[in-house]
Amino acid sequence: AHTTVGCQASVASKYMETPEIVDLDWENLGFGLVNTDFMYMAKCGPDGNFSKGEILPFGPIALSPSAGVLNYGQGLFEGLKAYRKTDGSVLLFRPEENAVRMKNGSDRMCMPAPTVEQFVDAVKQTVLANKRWVPPTGKGSLYIRPLLIGSGAILGLAPAPEYTFLIYVSPVGNYFKEGLAPINLIIEDNFHRAAPGGTGGVKTIGNYASVLKAQRTAKEKGYSDVLYLDAVHNKYLEEVSSCNIFVVKGNAICTPAIEGTILPGITRKSIIEVAESKGYKVEERHVSVDELLDADEVFCTGTAVVVSPVGSITYKGKRVKYDGNQGVGVVSQQLYTSLTSLQMGHAEDPMGWTVQL
Ligand code: COI
Repeated sequence: AHTTVGCQASVASKYMETPEIVDLDWENLGFGLVNTDFMYMAKCGPDGNFSKGEILPFGPIALSPSAGVLNYGQGLFEGLKAYRKTDGSVLLFRPEENAVRMKNGSDRMCMPAPTVEQFVDAVKQTVLANKRWVPPTGKGSLYIRPLLIGSGAILGLAPAPEYTFLIYVSPVGNYFKEGLAPINLIIEDNFHRAAPGGTGGVKTIGNYASVLKAQRTAKEKGYSDVLYLDAVHNKYLEEVSSCNIFVVKGNAICTPAIEGTILPGITRKSIIEVAESKGYKVEERHVSVDELLDADEVFCTGTAVVVSPVGSITYKGKRVKYDGNQGVGVVSQQLYTSLTSLQMGHAEDPMGWTVQL
């Protein structure tokens, strides 16, 4: 068993013995799990207070077969990234936004949540403990995955009696196999990701299991992913399985409004601010399929996908291509560069979004 003190000592000594950056094939990182050295774990019992939390060796966790998360899907996750700067230090991007989103989601899922301070501190500890896994500058990032799960045993349907807050990390490269090349989406009008009153607007694990079927079918047909429409009218854009969507027409950029069925992406929110600061008019509202098909450019945003240009959309058997500038639209390219320069510490950060470790 690891005590907090013992573990901190082992983190420190492991650190000193190991090279500054692990020897990995950094040129060929995709978005797959690479096991790292440490993970963070804190528990919360019926009193609603989380334990101090500790850094433990990365590995399997023990759960009762009757754990709330395994039986009833009581769980939330988050995603954020750390980038290595050229001076060797590491930058986090808006970690308190993830903490707040987890807190908001925990209310919907009847779970206690760690405080914003505990969340951010835990992220920092986990990244520092695994610092040698943060890719060299320009080769990718360290993806950070916080989880909040109903780990206590429960048989009848009810909130679990115990919760676990975990964080693990993995070095990652591009999310889509296309790399930075435009992705091809298919609009799915038989499956829906979320419905009004449901949990589409929170980052609960079940939202992701429920899109697997449509995603698999789309991939089998050669598409990169699925774009979902609203469940009421089957006409307005919602989001892609793993990211938000933006539509560009002239100087205007629009994206579906956050009204409960769409995930409030942190990259989405950041891109809106960056675009406005560059003089674009950004509208958060209902965006119809017709507008999408008539757009100049389309791109997706998310922590994992960053800003991914969309090269084509297929709807009801018809494919519409967005081929200005070889499919990577000027606006998408500009916003991608602005955001990633900030995240990697290559540009000024007037908004104070980055946190240096
Ligand atoms: C992220 O972008 O961080 C996500 O959580 C999406 C996930 C499907 C990889």
